[in-house]
Amino acid sequence: MPVELIPSVYWVGAVDWTLRDFHGYLTEMGSTYNAYLILDEKITLIDTVKKELVPEMLERVAEIVDPEKITYIVSNHTEMDHSGGLPEVMARVKPEKLFCSPMGHAGLSRHFKSDWPFEEVKTGAEVSLGRRTLLFLETPMLHWPDSMMTFLKEDQLLFSSDAFGAHYASSARFDDQVPDLACEYGHQLKKYYANILMPFGTLITQLFERIGKMDLEFKMIAPDHGLIYRQPEWVLQAYRRWASGEVARKALVIYDTMWHSTEMLAEALAEGLITAQAETQVHHLRRTHYSDIVTEVLDAGLLCLGSPTINNTIFPSMGQFLTYLQGLRPRNKAAMAFGSYGWSGQAVSLINQVLQGLKLKMAHGGFQVKYIPDEKELVEARVLGEELARENLPD
Ligand code: FEO
Repeated sequence: MPVELIPSVYWVGAVDWTLRDFHGYLTEMGSTYNAYLILDEKITLIDTVKKELVPEMLERVAEIVDPEKITYIVSNHTEMDHSGGLPEVMARVKPEKLFCSPMGHAGLSRHFKSDWPFEEVKTGAEVSLGRRTLLFLETPMLHWPDSMMTFLKEDQLLFSSDAFGAHYASSARFDDQVPDLACEYGHQLKKYYANILMPFGTLITQLFERIGKMDLEFKMIAPDHGLIYRQPEWVLQAYRRWASGEVARKALVIYDTMWHSTEMLAEALAEGLITAQAETQVHHLRRTHYSDIVTEVLDAGLLCLGSPTINNTIFPSMGQFLTYLQGLRPRNKAAMAFGSYGWSGQAVSLINQVLQGLKLKMAHGGFQVKYIPDEKELVEARVLGEELARENLPD
């Protein structure tokens, strides 16, 4: 069923209950692709859904109005989870205009057809629907260069595209319908930010500045994934905090191990970190999905990365994690490498190279032991954990 947000504005998206992999990101709660219908003199559809779910979306639209009566379509974002359904919807609806950013025009033309009735809109452009007005706001890289948001001025309702979204399938559509909001949904919101938006913190801070200059206030925020916020202040505050790069007194020990030697070092480092009263998490790279680990990276102040040397290099799971981390470009963190080796011992220096490339603060030159750590080396690792917490984490 469609769901009314405010009079004459409806959610008509689709729920993807069984999605578990979103381009490599573990989506254990599924997702939603939120599309919105505005009834006015010019009936307008904001975004579409994944290609496979178009029939579900069109059924929802048809509960309210014949889809062929839609006059305008707005494409806030070219990525296929929101635009994959566009060809079928465009063929059925035949709208007068398809609004998108200039980059959206270029992107949609490459993905689909270039003879659609594109109307490029830039930041500040307005379109009257009759009784209501759409105001467009380009938000490049949140999450693609084409991304933009659409603001329904009279109702102070922001259609925010990927920003403020979460991969979260549920029967609830609004934030005030979820009892453990800060817990499970809050975690999914943070996971989405960490895995999709972490590299763009500076752009998000600039977006808040632009919104301030334009005097925009939001009574409701309707993103393209997850819940619609009737009380948006909490999510705006979370984004301001994450975008600032603020970290907690929190350390992560992230490792893989061959015959438990690197694991012994991981546990000893963790003991030291805990002794120094750092919130500490230990993650084995083949037990915790990398998208869950980077969720914790977001507000951690210290990363300890451990790998044994195998065939003169690092463990494949550590290689995968570091590659993912390089793309997400975490900021404001200290980091160090550790690991065991048998004869050649390249793992620690290879991890260090990546950490240096990421411009993280090098908290230590690298802690490595030959074959199996003895009691003296384990004591050294525990003491090192304490020192690392004292010297690199906020109080
Ligand atoms: Fe939900 Fe960048 O797409």
